[in-house]
Amino acid sequence: MELAIDRLTKQYKNKLAVDRFSINLKPGVYGLLGSNGAGKTTLMRMICDIQKPTSGQIKYNGKDIKQLGENYRTVLGYLPQDFGYYPDFTAYDFLMYIAALKGISKEKAEIRANELLQIVNLENERKQKIKTFSGGMKQRLGIAQAMLNNPKILILDEPTAGLDPKERVKFRNLISSFSQDKIVILSTHIVSDIEFIADRIIVMKKGNKILEGTPEELLKSLNGKVWKCTVYDKKEVAKLNSIYYIINIHQENNYTELRIVSDKQPYLHAVNVEPNLEDLYLAYFQENEK
Ligand SMILES: Nc1ncnc2c1ncn2[C@@H]1O[C@H](COP(=O)(O)OP(=O)(O)OP(=O)(O)O)[C@@H](O)[C@H]1O
Ligand SMILES: [Mg+2]
Repeated sequence: MELAIDRLTKQYKNKLAVDRFSINLKPGVYGLLGSNGAGKTTLMRMICDIQKPTSGQIKYNGKDIKQLGENYRTVLGYLPQDFGYYPDFTAYDFLMYIAALKGISKEKAEIRANELLQIVNLENERKQKIKTFSGGMKQRLGIAQAMLNNPKILILDEPTAGLDPKERVKFRNLISSFSQDKIVILSTHIVSDIEFIADRIIVMKKGNKILEGTPEELLKSLNGKVWKCTVYDKKEVAKLNSIYYIINIHQENNYTELRIVSDKQPYLHAVNVEPNLEDLYLAYFQENEK
């Protein structure tokens, strides 16, 4: 299975939201990282065939999705960023309703809805109205509706927004259990989510793909460049701050601990530490803004 995206472009009236974005996607979980306005939602909407690209092409198993039409849409599952729930529907009725919209027969939908309510751990709340749900519960219901048709391609736009750490872990396990032989793309601002579930990371900036690879591959580029140092003099802290890119500042009573990204040792007693994805994300965005 392959989804080939070739120079996909979306020009809004006066905004180039996605700019010749190309990638070949194979089964696996892709984490799409990018700051606000990077073009993630626009890209995902085009992949879901909801938004028409200005130019470029998407091919599913070698065939243009424009030609595939409905045959392509039936393999898709989508959780939009601003998902509209129906407050007076119960969880179960909501899933049945979405299933009907997707053209799934009532018999199949009943089985699948019950299965999914169990998977997303909303079995006990199936008869409860959505307006009584917490953010995390709504999010899990949103994932369930995206999985109704057992999609081969699952697109989740900021699925972990508003989830607490416990819900986050549940969600990650849910995605992992579901992702076999599927292409899953999820966007997020939360780097640690991606660290745990994504096989590959795509970093997007100003409509472009600026990085792509496994977390290990991407982190390699930062080896030897992340430093930690303890500084006792406030003036030194200010000086370092003006020269280097400081990832983190931790203030104690009489000293400051700094995490710095730099090619060379930034300070006499600075020691190299293992880079993490947050370093990478912040460093990359910083570098390009200089
Ligand atoms: N319908 C629209 N008309 C005009 N401009 C738009 C429209 N939708 C999005 N944009 C612009 O296109 C750019 C990309 O927006 P998009 O929503 O794809 O970004 P995003 O990466 O999903 O951001 P966020 O992280 O905030 O969700 C932004 O500058 C946005 O203002
Ligand atoms: Mg978005």
